[in-house]
Amino acid sequence: MSTGWTIFIVVGALGSLAAMLWLLYANRTKAVEGETMGHDFDGIEEYDNPLPMWWVGLFIATITFAVAYLVYYPGLGSFAGIGGWTSTEEWQADVEAKERQFAPLYAQLGALSEAQLHDNRQARQMGRRLYINHCSTCHGVAARGAFGFPDLTDDEWQWGADFETVKMTIRQGRNAMMTPWEAALGGSSGVSNMAQYVSSLSGAPHDAAAAAKAAPQFQMFCIACHGPEGKGTALLGAPNLTNDVWLYGGSIEQIEFTIRHGRSGQMPAFGDLLGEDKIHLIAGYVTSLSNR
Ligand code: HEC
Ligand code: HEC
Repeated sequence: MSTGWTIFIVVGALGSLAAMLWLLYANRTKAVEGETMGHDFDGIEEYDNPLPMWWVGLFIATITFAVAYLVYYPGLGSFAGIGGWTSTEEWQADVEAKERQFAPLYAQLGALSEAQLHDNRQARQMGRRLYINHCSTCHGVAARGAFGFPDLTDDEWQWGADFETVKMTIRQGRNAMMTPWEAALGGSSGVSNMAQYVSSLSGAPHDAAAAAKAAPQFQMFCIACHGPEGKGTALLGAPNLTNDVWLYGGSIEQIEFTIRHGRSGQMPAFGDLLGEDKIHLIAGYVTSLSNR
C-alpha cells in the first residue's frame, strides 16, 4: 500500500476514535445533574443530564476494543499488526488443508484410464466442478465455446483429440500462429479470391472462378500448415478448413478478416496451477463431452 493511502487510513481510523473520545469528554464536563435545557412542552421539560455511567463505560470499552484490534490485526494501512494474521495466509492454510484432505481421492482418480474416467460418476462430477471453476469463463459453462474460444463438445480438435494431447493442451497451453497474408496474396483481390477458395473447401456457396484463381496460391502458401487438402495439422493447431466448424466464423467477411489480419488464439497453461491429477480429471470430463 502506498504511503498516501497509509496516511489516509491512519488519520481516518485514529482521528475518528479521537473525535469520539472528545465528544464523550465534552458531554461529561458540560452537563450538570438537574439542569434543564429550558425547553418546556406542556409541562414536560427536557433535562441536560450527563450520560449514564454504564453507557459511558460501554463506549470506552468499544473504543479500547477498537484500538486493541488495530494493534493486533492489519488495519492501519501498511502496518501489519503484531498478531501476524493475514487473510491471504488464512485462505492459503484453508486451501492446503483441503488439498491434504482430497489428495488421496485425486491420486486414486488420477490413476484411472480415459474410459474409466468417462464411466466414473464421481470423476465426472469433480472434473465438471474443476472445469466450471477454471475453464468456463472462456469455453462456456456448457463447453460450447464462443467466437475465438473453441467448442469442446464437438468432434473438431484443432490441437489433437488424443487424450494425452488434450492433457498437454491444458498443461502447457497453446499459442496459435496464423500470420497475415494480404501482402503475399497480392492485396485485397487476392484476399477475397482466397476466401472464396476456403469457402469452396467446406462446400459452402462460393464464386468458382475466384476460387480457381486462388487454388495455386493455397498450395504455395497455406499447405505447410493446413495441409494440401486443407484438412489441418494438429501439431501446429492449424484447423481443418474442409468442415463447417469455424473458430472465427465461417462467413466470407470473417474468413477474409482472418486471411488479411491473421489470428493468434491463446489457450493459457494450467500445469502449475492445477497439477497432474486435476488436469487428468478435467481432461476426462472434457473428452467425455464429445461422445467419442
Ligand atoms: C504457419 C502456419 C499457417 C499458415 C502458413 C496458414 N495458416 Fe491459417 N491458421 C493457422 C493456425 C495456427 C490457425 C488457427 C488460429 C487460431 O486458432 O487463432 C489458422 C486459422 C485459419 C483460419 C480460421 C479457421 C477458423 O476456424 O476460423 C483460416 C480461414 C485460415 N487459417 C486460412 C489460411 C489460409 C487461406 C492460408 C494461406 C494463405 C493460411 N491459413 C496459412 C496456421 C497457418
Ligand atoms: C483465458 C481463456 C481460456 C481459459 C480460461 C481456458 N481456455 Fe482453453 N482455449 C482458449 C483458447 C483461446 C483456445 C484456442 C487456442 C487456439 O486458437 O488455438 C483454447 C483451446 C483449448 C483446447 C484445444 C481445443 C482443440 O480444438 O484442440 C482445449 C482442449 C482447451 N482449451 C481446454 C481448456 C480447459 C480444460 C480449460 C480449463 C482448465 C481451459 N481450456 C481454459 C482459451 C481459454
